Amino acid sequence: MTQVDLQRLTKIYPGGENPAVHHLSLTIPDGRVTALLGPSGCGKTTALKMVAGLIKPSAGDILFDGISVLGVPTEKREAVMAFQNHLLFPHMSVSENIGFGLKMRGVDRTAVRQRVADMLALVRLPGLEARRPYQLSGGQQQRVALARALIVEPKVLLLDEPLSNLDAHLRSEMRELILDVQQRFNLTTIFVTHDQEEAVVLADQIALLFEGQLQQYGPPQAFYDRPLSERVARFFGGVNFIPGHKRGEDIQTPLGLFQCPSAPLLDGAVLLTIRPENIQLDSHASGANGAYGRIKSSVYMGTHARFKILAEGNSPQPPVAIEVVTGAAGVNQFAVGQRVRLHLPSEKIWLVPAER
Ligand SMILES: Nc1ncnc2c1ncn2[C@@H]1O[C@H](COP(=O)(O)OP(=O)(O)O)[C@@H](O)[C@H]1O
Ligand SMILES: [Mg+2]
Repeated sequence: MTQVDLQRLTKIYPGGENPAVHHLSLTIPDGRVTALLGPSGCGKTTALKMVAGLIKPSAGDILFDGISVLGVPTEKREAVMAFQNHLLFPHMSVSENIGFGLKMRGVDRTAVRQRVADMLALVRLPGLEARRPYQLSGGQQQRVALARALIVEPKVLLLDEPLSNLDAHLRSEMRELILDVQQRFNLTTIFVTHDQEEAVVLADQIALLFEGQLQQYGPPQAFYDRPLSERVARFFGGVNFIPGHKRGEDIQTPLGLFQCPSAPLLDGAVLLTIRPENIQLDSHASGANGAYGRIKSSVYMGTHARFKILAEGNSPQPPVAIEVVTGAAGVNQFAVGQRVRLHLPSEKIWLVPAER
């Protein structure tokens, strides 16, 4: 069990204009799964490599259980990295690949053989020990990479895009394997992904990075329910942003007045946001926190239906485009061109600062 603390961790590559990672501070709890999430190029792999000791930070510190590991070389750091850009040795068999780390540590051959057998069972690959990497499928190669990382009994497991390059079926298999292994060994696991869905299903908490900087850190649900900015909300599929002005509990918008006692304590220019699945559609209801709109388009998605609606208030301002998701039956209930009432429940409304 190891808690990992990143303290204002920064990496500037030689010749790089902007830091690849900038003042990243995070407390990564022990025995849990933490995702570093963000678009390609935002510094995820760089951060992971610094934790593994594969590259040196330009500034800041990395602590394992409160003790700086910056002076500890990679092979003694007890953090191992698997996947992206960590290819298997092509000239070695599966067994040799998996046993490599122990052999380098001078463990005797019988013990290595036994541990390799254990690892093959763990990643469910028995019978393939003599094969070469090119004789394996992509999913099998990932398993070998995982076994090779785990055999040295790390305290911190670092996974770089473990599920990308796998098809849907293999992804869910690999996801289960990772969670299984992580729970069995109580490993502090940090994994990198650009895929928000992957982060949500795998991680206990997510650190979202844009351009090397931390945007938000917390449990997956917080990114849906309490995003800190419009950009964070959009990264998690948020589409509804209504400009408004907040005073006390009242938010004045082009669609009329909305109230949301639970919204954050911002005053002044705000964006009112609400997830499409949290808006209720009705053809005749009235009441507070509502607006009228006309359905512009609808898409039936099998398990649900998605509508684009132009909503308008009493003011002579232009209509506001709003997306609404209903149950699949909604597609029979609401037709394109129909006038509907939208209800935005106050407890589902969230506010982010309006960007200037
Ligand atoms: N060895 C390197 N030398 C110079 N720049 C690099 C190097 N590795 C990565 N970068 C740059 O640092 C930034 C972050 O890269 P990376 O950590 O690989 O992002 P991610 O894993 O989020 O896609 C990118 O702009 C990338 O071009
Ligand atoms: Mg990367």
